[in-house]
Amino acid sequence: MHGNVLGIEAVMPDGTIMNDLSKLRKNNTGYDLKQLFIGGEGTIGIITAISILCPQRSPAVNVAYFALDSYEKVQQAFIEAKKQLSEILSAFELMDGKTQKYLAQVKGRKLPIEGEHPFYCLLETSGSNTDHDSEKLQTYLEHVMGEGIVEDGVVGQDATQNADLWSCREGITEILGHWGGVYKYDLSIPIGEMYDLVNETRDKLAKAGLIGDDDSHPVVDVVGYGHVGDSNLHLNIPTRRFDKAVEKELEPFVYEWVAKRNGSISAEHGLGITKKPYIGYSRSESMIKLMKQIKELYDPKGIMNPYKYI
Ligand code: LAC
Ligand code: ZN
Repeated sequence: MHGNVLGIEAVMPDGTIMNDLSKLRKNNTGYDLKQLFIGGEGTIGIITAISILCPQRSPAVNVAYFALDSYEKVQQAFIEAKKQLSEILSAFELMDGKTQKYLAQVKGRKLPIEGEHPFYCLLETSGSNTDHDSEKLQTYLEHVMGEGIVEDGVVGQDATQNADLWSCREGITEILGHWGGVYKYDLSIPIGEMYDLVNETRDKLAKAGLIGDDDSHPVVDVVGYGHVGDSNLHLNIPTRRFDKAVEKELEPFVYEWVAKRNGSISAEHGLGITKKPYIGYSRSESMIKLMKQIKELYDPKGIMNPYKYI
């Protein structure tokens, strides 16, 4: 979003209209004020119009879904994808085995690959030449399967199959609500350590006796999925009911874990209300002070989306 919005028109708290509805790709004259509104959660002004970069829709889109034995191999597959597919790689997504198992269970559907595997990835390429892209993807898949990095894989044969493969990734958020509620964390973590957090969180909740198959345990499981290509993990804890004992195990544990690795406690979804008190885990004192000064400058009466952010 930060890279694709070219201009913004917004109404400021004092009624001033900020007219920066530019269509220019480059405009290095003074501060880039529109960026303050993206992810600002409406705390500085109300956006009334935007101009956004619209790239050509790629005529050639390929989607592959594959199974892997370990998180180490997920990383190897990602490195190879960056190397071999470089400019046509448009998505590299992670789904752990549990997300796929629950997806099949809750939706009552078959998964694209038989058997149970600890990790799955979805890879998408977008380019201009179907033959060229398919050949590149084929070479990539032969390589990663030949090297034993990937256990098994399928490639969508048409747009319907591609959409079905994507639904194995995009359907996760919805099915995790099946048991009642979900504790959700949207985190930026260096790729090498990303999945360690899922394992450690699961161990911690198990040790506290809070995870189990039956109703006496609040937590159903701990799962991880997300945008490997963006170093962005969604740590999700599907639960039968919200429970203070679970919350005590999760926080500040998750935030401290992420801060220790210089990650972010909100990669793409924003702080909102629940994560507002924890901004200090991802931003320094001086950064927060500068943010407060900006807020005070533009919204001295605190009337814009009050109680949010800072
Ligand atoms: C997703 C949302 C949760 O990636 O960001 O599915
Ligand atoms: Zn996401």
